[in-house]
Amino acid sequence: MMNLDSTVTVAVKKFGAEREQLLPVLQYVVSKEKWLSEDTLAEVARVFDMSAAEVYGVASFYSFLDTEARGEYVIRVCRTISCDMSGKEAIMEALQKTLRISVGETSSDRKFTLLETNCIGWCAEGPAMLVNDEAYTNLTPEKVVEVLQGYMNRT
Ligand code: FES
Repeated sequence: MMNLDSTVTVAVKKFGAEREQLLPVLQYVVSKEKWLSEDTLAEVARVFDMSAAEVYGVASFYSFLDTEARGEYVIRVCRTISCDMSGKEAIMEALQKTLRISVGETSSDRKFTLLETNCIGWCAEGPAMLVNDEAYTNLTPEKVVEVLQGYMNRT
């Protein structure tokens, strides 16, 4: 039986079950549960009247498919062309150096996970990244270090 208080249910109540709400719903679920389990994917597919494969496709496009628990803060750096051309590589280097992890890894204190993603809709203000569901734009190596420090100082 479906748990009425599941994260998916909460997300759907918040955003709705129209197709264009799929991304916010997935983002919400990932922000709460840190990853999408097979059961969650199946539940999302049921609610949105889509096949699990379609949901899987969207989730993997945005790097929302994790098979393991991620850090408290999941950083997703846009790797799509506008951001790539506006200096994404230098942003990634600054993140890797500051966090001492590579793309795909989680810091040993499980605070940060560093990932790449496809376009997150801030192309005109790239380079851009998400930290959980918070977007940061017009990034410079200095700015990402400041952003990280803000998260490091949170208790
Ligand atoms: S290309 Fe990076 S946000 Fe669109």
